[in-house]
Amino acid sequence: MKKIVVVGSINMDYVTHVQQQPGVGETVSGQGLDLKPGGKGANQAYAAAYLGADVTKIGAVGNDAAGRMSLESLKHAGVNTEYIRTVKGVSTGTALIAVNAEGDNSIIVIPGANELVDRAYVDSVKHVIEASDIVILQLEIPFETVCYVAGKTVILDPAPARELPKELICGLTIVKPNQTEIMKVLGREGETCQPERELHTLKEMGVAHPIITLGSDGCCTLDESGNLERVPAVKAKAVDTTGAGDCFTGAMACSLAEGNSLEKALEFAAKASAIAVTRAGAQPSFPARKEIL
Ligand code: RIB
Repeated sequence: MKKIVVVGSINMDYVTHVQQQPGVGETVSGQGLDLKPGGKGANQAYAAAYLGADVTKIGAVGNDAAGRMSLESLKHAGVNTEYIRTVKGVSTGTALIAVNAEGDNSIIVIPGANELVDRAYVDSVKHVIEASDIVILQLEIPFETVCYVAGKTVILDPAPARELPKELICGLTIVKPNQTEIMKVLGREGETCQPERELHTLKEMGVAHPIITLGSDGCCTLDESGNLERVPAVKAKAVDTTGAGDCFTGAMACSLAEGNSLEKALEFAAKASAIAVTRAGAQPSFPARKEIL
């Protein structure tokens, strides 16, 4: 089994349920308030480890209850947490999440300790990154750190999305945005995504395997000959889509770490995320291997 390292965020998710997300200047009532461990980096590490992958997490939490709960959750999934920094005087990252009646979410992230995942810290754990086969990155830690981390197989989940410099994209193994994210990544926010065209653009920029997720329509990539390849979604009744994309990334990495083809890894990831959307929260909704099988 190949080794996976996830360099990324750790958040505590404060989740409430609304009929519909508020518009600008609007106030709406939320139903309940749940605390659940989240953060795109932690979620992806959790998903992969819970499915049996060998995963080490690089990240930072505050010396607070949220940080301790986050570490416990990662340990529960089997993630190696020994290199996670616990920093005094700063709060663990926080995400305020409103989930609507369709299960779709709006998220505000307050980075907290995630901002301390800097170059100096990455240097101190360089040996862990170098000893890994797959490095997973997202964009909830300082962007400078994302650009600095080098690995063998780098999977970049470009969320929260921003325009990305060609130098960062060039040479990445997998870039996995959704349709909204890809347009921001390419600096064409507001334009409608044409998945095949955008995949070719990423390929021309030097991404070995670009993937675009299409929500309930599954995902697509390019095959060896550059033809569009679609992987359908597994039908599911969505209750809460929070973290479904992270579950997808973690499950895909787990399957790749086992030596499977990208096509097989995408099918596995589609099944994992279909299960995740049927349950509330990010990490607590992620499936174990036997459920997927
Ligand atoms: O992708 C879902 C995650 O985004 C949540 O768990 C939240 O913490 C934010 O990072």
